[in-house]
Amino acid sequence: MIYVDVNATYPVTPKHYMAVAALLQQVDGNPSSIHAPGRNAKVALEHARGSLAQLLGARSLEVVFTSGATEANNLALQGLVGRAALSQGERPPLLIVTAAEHSSVIETAQTLRERGLCRLEIAPVLASGEVDGDALLALIGADTAGVAMMHANNETGAVSDVRGLTQRIKAINPAVHVHVDAVQMLGKADLTWYATSGIDSAAFSAHKIGAYKGIGALFLKAGAKLLPLSIGGGQERGRRPGTENMPGIVSFGLRCQEIHGRHGEVCTAMRLLRDAWRLAVEAVPGAVVHAPSVFTDDHSLPNTVNFHIEGVSGDDLLLNFDLAGIHASSGSACSSSVARPSHVLLAMGHSDWVALNSVRVSFGPDSTLADVARMAEVLREVVARVRRA
Ligand SMILES: Cc1ncc(COP(=O)(O)O)c(C=O)c1O
Repeated sequence: MIYVDVNATYPVTPKHYMAVAALLQQVDGNPSSIHAPGRNAKVALEHARGSLAQLLGARSLEVVFTSGATEANNLALQGLVGRAALSQGERPPLLIVTAAEHSSVIETAQTLRERGLCRLEIAPVLASGEVDGDALLALIGADTAGVAMMHANNETGAVSDVRGLTQRIKAINPAVHVHVDAVQMLGKADLTWYATSGIDSAAFSAHKIGAYKGIGALFLKAGAKLLPLSIGGGQERGRRPGTENMPGIVSFGLRCQEIHGRHGEVCTAMRLLRDAWRLAVEAVPGAVVHAPSVFTDDHSLPNTVNFHIEGVSGDDLLLNFDLAGIHASSGSACSSSVARPSHVLLAMGHSDWVALNSVRVSFGPDSTLADVARMAEVLREVVARVRRA
């Protein structure tokens, strides 16, 4: 099997399951209990929190565990809109999100607007998929409560300069809450500058780095205030009440420790595969890679290639890949069971057909050059067969 869908999820290894199980046998108390099992669980909880904080150059108290990045994005957007509404009087606060955001950002923002809880501006992206900085900055005003933008796009791999953009946003209005969906960046770059960059909050998901599904986190800068989504027992300093998901948190913490300091070597290996695959795709007549402006780490993820082939449907490619044991994806994983054009590719200016028939290949640390060679062989066969038919 060749698994090239790591942007959707990076499967848990048997070794990791065993490591988590071994740890949980020692620390399966409720971290809020004051007896010894509770205290042990609390130590494990804080250790995991510290492991993620270390990757972000952050303090432990700036990490809030959630059920995943969907919840982290919701907590940030709903939380900042709710908070701003408390101080902004009659007029709903203004939220700005970019057109290529994940559905957990863009649909949350649209729902908040439909409910009359915020005003909303959608900032465009460039043909490369990167945030159009000038257009975004032109929307910022004295009444802007928050901006949400993606660091790396899960479908195209386009990387935006969220650090530079944050500085420019804050120069216009320092009170704007800047939220970043950083899901696809964790483990693929040094993020230790996050805590000092001016970014107010950022969403992370554990299953994108080989930890369990159903656990994630919000980095929330000390002093940044959000209304919580739920009210309860005060866990996570009241920002996300409810008994903590200890299996998930232990798993997330372990993987954070394992990836610490390793992004350089992992990315070098993946970059090689991405570029080999990109060349193989581009050698097929009618193939178009939906490229970030340049394939350097400032502009693109080291592991992602999104492409279409004129006259060959995405379903044909993916089905034949699957039959050959190659597991890739169309559009974003979260919406891939729904046949609708990718809003990301549409925002980049592609046609409906392209947005419906594109394929995403995302390599992982375990992918090999032999995988790429086999994928290229199957791609050529499938395209030739479909064209003959
Ligand atoms: C960029 C991005 N944001 C958010 C999410 C949602 O993450 P989760 O599955 O943890 O809810 C995903 C998952 O596909 C993603 O790729």
